[in-house]
Amino acid sequence: MSDSHARETTPILHARGLGKQVDSGERRLDILTGLDLDVFPGESVAILGSSGAGKSTLLGLLAGLDTPTHGELMLFGKSLQSLDEDGRAQLRAGRVGFVFQNFQLLPTLTALENVLLPLELMPGRDHQSRGRDWLGRVGLGERLDHLPKQLSGGEQQRVAVARAFVTEPELVFADEPTGNLDRATGRKVIDLLFALNREAGTTLVLVTHDHHLARRCQRCLQLDGGRLVELDRDEVEA
Ligand SMILES: Nc1ncnc2c1ncn2[C@@H]1O[C@H](COP(=O)(O)OP(=O)(O)O)[C@@H](O)[C@H]1O
Ligand SMILES: [Mg+2]
Repeated sequence: MSDSHARETTPILHARGLGKQVDSGERRLDILTGLDLDVFPGESVAILGSSGAGKSTLLGLLAGLDTPTHGELMLFGKSLQSLDEDGRAQLRAGRVGFVFQNFQLLPTLTALENVLLPLELMPGRDHQSRGRDWLGRVGLGERLDHLPKQLSGGEQQRVAVARAFVTEPELVFADEPTGNLDRATGRKVIDLLFALNREAGTTLVLVTHDHHLARRCQRCLQLDGGRLVELDRDEVEA
């Protein structure tokens, strides 16, 4: 989708003056300070920034998993501030996938059961086969019945990717989705993300240190001093 076409539509994500403060001991820490962002349907956006810049905090806010201290935030055209936690979960259900930096797989469930979780509240009978299909697509077709602790970090990360995509969501947030993968496996997961972006129009918001991944996104943004700065994609070195 060309930028000009995308920008004629309503943003899928809209943040204005977004701020997040936390108390850490005696001090108040300003993680985000008046951040603005619009993401349009079908876009792929990379968020870069040094460790501790607030990237994971930002992703959690944008997905409505955490609440901002100030500012305005809309997801799918709906104000997140107008919703309580349940309301935000309902808005996300089936429409938003999230790949956590630390995966957050449930330790007592197998790989397949973890992937099936987001489908529990959705209609349809083909859940099992969808879950198996997704684990196959991330190269874990032989690991369906393994518990997270029986999987390597990279394998857990791929289970988390399958879980994020199994509902065929409109929007996927992924926090360093290739951070634990070797180069070849990382490429495979990246190819999968962008195939979905192309074929299903899945909007991607990715936090990454991987410049190869960032350069494949339509836009690269740098989180610095609590705000986002648009980078020229060619400035992001390969
Ligand atoms: N709940 C919290 N309480 C105190 N400090 C926090 C909290 N959440 C995040 N931080 C701090 O805010 C900064 C940004 O964290 P994070 O969003 O995880 O950064 P990044 O993902 O860019 O590495 C870090 O210095 C972190 O220690
Ligand atoms: Mg982080």
